[in-house]
Amino acid sequence: MSVSTLDKEMAAKLQELAKQAGMDISGAKIRRSSSRFCVGVEHGDYNGTELFGVGTDRFIWLAYKPNGSGKMRLFSGNFPDDGVVEFEIGNVPEPQSSEVADTWARFPYGVDYVLNREGYKLARGFDAVLYGNIPGGGMSRSASLALNLILTVLEVNGIEPEDQLKVVDLAQAVENDYIGSPCGQLDQIMILFAKEGMGTHYNPKDRSVKYVPLGKGGENLRIVVMDTGTVRPGLEKSTYKIRRSECDEFAALLNKTYSDISALADVKDEATYKRIIDEFSDSKPGHCERLAYIYSAQKRFYEMMDAWKAGDIEKVGGVFREDGVGLRDDYKISGPELESMCDIVRTVPGVLGERMLGGGDKGAAGALVMADAVNDVKAAVDNAYPRSRPDFADKYAVHVCGIVDGIKVLEGLC
Ligand code: GLA
Repeated sequence: MSVSTLDKEMAAKLQELAKQAGMDISGAKIRRSSSRFCVGVEHGDYNGTELFGVGTDRFIWLAYKPNGSGKMRLFSGNFPDDGVVEFEIGNVPEPQSSEVADTWARFPYGVDYVLNREGYKLARGFDAVLYGNIPGGGMSRSASLALNLILTVLEVNGIEPEDQLKVVDLAQAVENDYIGSPCGQLDQIMILFAKEGMGTHYNPKDRSVKYVPLGKGGENLRIVVMDTGTVRPGLEKSTYKIRRSECDEFAALLNKTYSDISALADVKDEATYKRIIDEFSDSKPGHCERLAYIYSAQKRFYEMMDAWKAGDIEKVGGVFREDGVGLRDDYKISGPELESMCDIVRTVPGVLGERMLGGGDKGAAGALVMADAVNDVKAAVDNAYPRSRPDFADKYAVHVCGIVDGIKVLEGLC
């Protein structure tokens, strides 16, 4: 199905949902925000590495229409039991309070909280209905939602953000400060800047963003996301939080001896790396394993980038696979269902690489696959996954993803 057919179908669905919620969205615009697929370095963002990824065609569609008041009214078709979320601009529950912990409303509340805190003058509310098909865990559903809401609130209030990176910072603040999720900036960057057919390369040293097309010969590459059907709690409740603090702690410790190391990605030369491992492998074995992954994944990152530019997708897939082994064995951030998916697809001819995706523990795994192997991958998963993980036999899904623009505003559909 072409995206525009899907967009039309979604517009009809949003109108249906609006009716259900007793809202009128006729003439509304739709802001569509994508998901993302990180090619590298997974878990590199909060460790200071460069990043590379693409926007993928699983989306959140949000239809919005100013309502002439200072009130926000929102209804999510994914969480209908939460009803219509309604609040006066500037009047939301306290950050990280228990009353918001289990409702999707923490996102619009958090956006209102952060934008007000940052001094944006908000007075115009809107009615909105939204629906998404991004699986939870691995494809950045939360960042997509935070970005979508921020851009919509700013637009309705006639505010142009200073620059795009400011929007990234705001979206991260919604999650870090209001929701309490310790996420980095990978997701927000890879969605906000995503361009159809392009990879996005981000360098944290100067916060630059460059677009890199996949070189000639790469047309046969397909991105496959294998949703395990498991539900991952927020990052604040997962291994992610532990890994993050281990890495921060180790970087702070190293900084006492090596003043030029402020994040694990700063360990770049082999002599320094070896010295650190020698010194700490007995006293801090887990920390050394985390560093081992970041150190080698960072080295592979540059090889992967060269291969991407050259259209050498076998190499790109090979690096992706090696990263997966490092994430599983050294970084220890994968999970049993994610590894089942990887084990199932690894030996299918035409699968170039596979690994866990995103925050970890649960959610989705990913594979880089030759176009003509996609059906075999689906068949292998259908055959083996329900047997290996019967609890998720009717919940898993395989998504073949296109590389798309991150944010689009669609008019004339409602
Ligand atoms: C989650 C976080 C990101 C990033 C990835 C792992 O998606 O939100 O900031 O750390 O995990 O690469």
